[in-house]
Amino acid sequence: MNSYSRLLYFVRPYYKRMIFAVFCMIVAAAAYLVVPWLIKNVVDQVLEEKNLLMLNLIVGAIVLIFLIRGFATYGQTYNMSYIGQRVIIDVREAIFKHIQRLSMSYFDRRKTGVIMSNLTNDVAALQSAVVDNLISFITESVTLIGSLVSMFLIDWKLTLVTFTTVPVVLVIINVFGKRLRTAGHDVQGRIADITALLQEVIGAIRVVKSFAREGFEVNRFEAENKRNFDAVIKATKLTSLLSPMVEFSAAIAVAVILWYGGYSVVTGTITAGSLIAFLIYAINLSNPVKRLSQVYGNIQKALAAADRVFEILDTKADVVEKEDAKELPNIKGDVEFKNVDFSYDGEKLALQNFNLSVKAGESVALVGPSGAGKTTLANLLPRFYDVTHGSITIDGVDVRDVTFKSLRDQIGLVPQETVLFNASIKENILYGRLDATDEEVYAAAKAANVMEFIEKMPDGLDTMVGERGSSLSGGQRQRVAIARAILKDPRILILDEATSALDTESEKLVQEALDRLMEGRTAFVIAHRLSTIQNAHQIIVLQNGQLVEQGTHDELLALEEGVYNHLYSVQFSNKG
Ligand SMILES: Nc1ncnc2c1ncn2[C@@H]1O[C@H](COP(=O)(O)OP(=O)(O)OP(=O)(O)O)[C@@H](O)[C@H]1O
Ligand SMILES: [Mg+2]
Repeated sequence: MNSYSRLLYFVRPYYKRMIFAVFCMIVAAAAYLVVPWLIKNVVDQVLEEKNLLMLNLIVGAIVLIFLIRGFATYGQTYNMSYIGQRVIIDVREAIFKHIQRLSMSYFDRRKTGVIMSNLTNDVAALQSAVVDNLISFITESVTLIGSLVSMFLIDWKLTLVTFTTVPVVLVIINVFGKRLRTAGHDVQGRIADITALLQEVIGAIRVVKSFAREGFEVNRFEAENKRNFDAVIKATKLTSLLSPMVEFSAAIAVAVILWYGGYSVVTGTITAGSLIAFLIYAINLSNPVKRLSQVYGNIQKALAAADRVFEILDTKADVVEKEDAKELPNIKGDVEFKNVDFSYDGEKLALQNFNLSVKAGESVALVGPSGAGKTTLANLLPRFYDVTHGSITIDGVDVRDVTFKSLRDQIGLVPQETVLFNASIKENILYGRLDATDEEVYAAAKAANVMEFIEKMPDGLDTMVGERGSSLSGGQRQRVAIARAILKDPRILILDEATSALDTESEKLVQEALDRLMEGRTAFVIAHRLSTIQNAHQIIVLQNGQLVEQGTHDELLALEEGVYNHLYSVQFSNKG
């Protein structure tokens, strides 16, 4: 029940509306309860005693009661839907907010599709828990209790006889409820798997097509789909078994009442009208029992969804700001890595005993084979991950002692895989500094050589770039990302293969822009193409997470057996 009470926490802001809605539910259900009582009077007083005044009264009462019930039903449905939608919005927002705060490692471990399914399907399941099930729960409870009380008032002995059947029903509900919850867990999990697969395959459709793996993917999808089907069928089997079993036990109860009640009328203990009213109450009773058992099943299913939603909300970020985190003051840009060890998984070290000291305004080139740990280094400085051992300081301040915003505001990152938002080029550049003027955006675009390809586009800077920037070429995307960093104007720059997707001609142009950008800033330049980094103040050669060589281009080239010398001669001979 823990999840349910947490869910109610989201309902709390709307408690006034909730109270009114519950009031409407009670009125609507109570209105219904009066009807058998009216029928009893029709039978006993109008039909038996030929009382016409009573007939008029009863007919008038029926019209009035159903008018009230109409209003109450409207109030109940409208307000509950309102609350349900508000809760959905709030929960979704809470998840989204929380996801924004989670650390990079969370996203490394999760499939995007599963997170999306949590945000859509699971939250929708919560809404039905709040709205439909709560309405049913309250309405049916009122009907149940009201019918019970009425039955006792009519004839308590008859009522007791009827209830010999109840324990059986309760046992059935209990057993099924538990199994339904497990089945519900399964179904939602399978749906999330399908979403994840869809998301992955569609996202990688180029790869799929280029390897002609359509058939393979279809098979994979079919298998996933089949698993979903099996899970749904298993849950459906349970749900569809539950109702008939409950209904059958109710029918037995009716048979018992008919026999004992008919006997009582014949022997004159109760009136015919009372027996009819009693029967209607008893039949009405089977409805709430049946519906409450459904509600119980639905709530179990919704709780499974709630569990998953709260699991996200309960996930703690690995990398968190300290309680007393300070603002990092405007920095000069001295950076120091001291005895840094880092591991993504807690086992394999991606960086090992790494030491590096960079003075403000210096540029450092990071080279080394793929997987050496270059991007990892770039991830540690903005604190996407925390070092496992050692420390990283900027101007002598440990990056773990300052707020994320003040740290990241002063670091510009052009990542290895440029991702643009589905917006215009201008908006994508503006992402670097939201309050920049048009002139500043234009200047940044010009400096990064964005203008050169934009001029051929009819909408210029307002050209939309498509999802993830897909309507631009790789090199064009990179230039937009560089313009974004230029606009941000940070003291520390990290360029992870920022020119890798450019041809030699544009590379030269962008390199100029970058050289201008790097001037006077601390810059970390990661590059496979060594031609771009020869002017760096120092070059660091990484291998298997360890620093193996360090020096200027000339110094490293002089080491004849060195890694850098080897890399350089390979690239040089390739060109030749
Ligand atoms: N998110 C991650 N989770 C777990 N391991 C990772 C993660 N990112 C990188 N690694 C591992 O850490 C090591 C260093 O990776 P890194 O991305 O830093 O290499 P790199 O030097 O940037 O290579 P490249 O030149 O190909 O970009 C690799 O062994 C890689 O498998
Ligand atoms: Mg890399």
